Amino acid sequence: MQKDFVSIADLTTDEIDKVFNLTAHLKKEVKEGKEHHLLKNKTLAMIFEKPSLRTRVTFETGMVQLGGHAIYLSPTDIQLGKRESIPDVAKNLSRWVDCIMARTFAHNTVVELSENATVPVINALSDREHPCQILADFFTILEHKGKLNGLKIAYIGDSNNVCNSIILFSSIYGLNLKVASPKGYEPDPPILETADKIKNRTFELTVFNESVSAVDDADVIYTDIWASMGQEDEREKRVKTFKDFQVNDRLVSKAKKDVIVMHCLPAHRGEEITDEVIDGPHSVVLDEAENRLHTEKALLVKLLKK
Ligand code: CP
Ligand code: NVA
Repeated sequence: MQKDFVSIADLTTDEIDKVFNLTAHLKKEVKEGKEHHLLKNKTLAMIFEKPSLRTRVTFETGMVQLGGHAIYLSPTDIQLGKRESIPDVAKNLSRWVDCIMARTFAHNTVVELSENATVPVINALSDREHPCQILADFFTILEHKGKLNGLKIAYIGDSNNVCNSIILFSSIYGLNLKVASPKGYEPDPPILETADKIKNRTFELTVFNESVSAVDDADVIYTDIWASMGQEDEREKRVKTFKDFQVNDRLVSKAKKDVIVMHCLPAHRGEEITDEVIDGPHSVVLDEAENRLHTEKALLVKLLKK
């Protein structure tokens, strides 16, 4: 395993399988009331340039459940790159804590932290990727479908950080992925180039500019907000551009009968997804949210206990 988890592509399929196996074990045992203080006395520093509910709570709870401790550093606390340079922050934190987790605007900020820290650095969402989310999501798919290979996955909406990590995961694993985005919002060429370089031979990616073809025969439909954190100014324009990319009952009815519907949350109900779908029988969004906790615990153990 590499020192850091900056991109989902930092893990091999073998390492992902190991993280998933440990996740299943820890999830089962924590529900049975068994304690695993595998990270006793370890400290995680959590740097946030953007807001969070799930990421903050799951990492902090996860560290406590593993016998460790987490420190929340808000945007006003350290002012990365303003009050102090990114390398200086990384070097200082490395003298005190055992791991650094960062949610940043520029992807390069997480990269710079990882290059300057002597302890593992975890990307907890950057403008390019959201690898922790994707670990939880594919673990959730595995729980519901019993397998990953051979499934048809449809991502509907903005080709954003979450979509990028889904593309890279699908590439490593050799999955069949369809992405439907409006013209001008399709996956970025550098992500497609990386996916092509690291791909397993069974990887198939098709990009559409309409959603119905993408969900045809799909086992999984995934969507995310149309304007990500940092794109608030574009929200009004995007709501108009993306209006035909809503995941609603009509779209879900075009997929397989037992399709699962996923969303990383937070959702803008009535925009990218309707109440009927997110609260309906196909939705697994709360399983995804719960699995953030279990997959992150497994990831922390794998990174910190080598
Ligand atoms: N899905 C996710 O990362 O949620 P938060 O932004 O609330 O952490
Ligand atoms: N794409 C969203 C994900 C939020 C968890 C964003 O970056 O805001």
